[in-house]
Amino acid sequence: MQKKQELYAGKAKSVYTTDDPDRLVLLFRNDTSAFDGEKKAQLDRKGAVNNRFNAFIMQRLAASGIETHFEKLLANDESLVKKLKMFPVECVVRNIAAGSICRRLGVQEGVDLNPPTFEFFLKNDALHDPMINEYHIRSFGWARDHEVAQMKELTFKVNDVLKRLFADAGMLLVDYKLEFGDFHGRVVLGDEFTPDGCRLWDVATRKKLDKDRFRQGLGGVVEAYEEVAHRLGVDLSGI
Ligand code: ADP
Ligand code: TMP
Ligand code: ASP
Repeated sequence: MQKKQELYAGKAKSVYTTDDPDRLVLLFRNDTSAFDGEKKAQLDRKGAVNNRFNAFIMQRLAASGIETHFEKLLANDESLVKKLKMFPVECVVRNIAAGSICRRLGVQEGVDLNPPTFEFFLKNDALHDPMINEYHIRSFGWARDHEVAQMKELTFKVNDVLKRLFADAGMLLVDYKLEFGDFHGRVVLGDEFTPDGCRLWDVATRKKLDKDRFRQGLGGVVEAYEEVAHRLGVDLSGI
């Protein structure tokens, strides 16, 4: 497999074509951004930690019957993935109130959401990823009805698998964001699952172990990601 030209450089990852039209290389960079790119920093080791973390989670999800784009690790900070036609929407499940839902609905951080709630956002930094509903997705043609239904079903299935995985390691999965794409007519999980795109709290102390440490200037960002990885048994050797 030959890595070819850069297709896209996002805020935290870069995407490269390969000699296989159905495969891409994802490069996890140390760049870290929050508030739609307004706050930026370079965090040592983050790219490699997130690459290994993502591989571990994607493999667990695949073992639970959820098809993902992940194929294999190529380097400390690179993975081979299936090339998806991404739907321009973000799927968020929340088990506990935190972040934007607190601001939007005036709920206090830490309130249990039972049953968990689901939100769609449009992937558009210039518009600050506005919240959208299924009617918007349908009217603007961002995805078809059966694809919307599958994204919701798969996002909740991920919750069943990962809530338990993190609970077994002493953590609360507060919320997370997933992105899906089409691969030859199938709805497949793409992008990443790392502490950059979810909220994780220590179950006993409620210490934040995710990108809120960066957003809120709490420090120890990559150290927290590494702690989560160690608790789960993610192999971080050599990075
Ligand atoms: P952003 O675009 O939000 O700044 P990233 O820096 O993480 O985010 O860039 C990665 C980009 O690659 C995202 O736009 C994401 O939608 C896209 N992407 C992730 N996985 C795949 C895939 N398997 N196939 C095609 N595109 C993907
Ligand atoms: P929010 O509380 O800011 O709406 O975020 C909900 C979850 O989704 C949180 O775990 C962070 C994640 N997320 C991203 O990863 N990228 C984004 O662009 C947004 C808006 C949220
Ligand atoms: N992922 C978005 C950004 O990088 C939003 C966030 O995480 O706060 O700006």
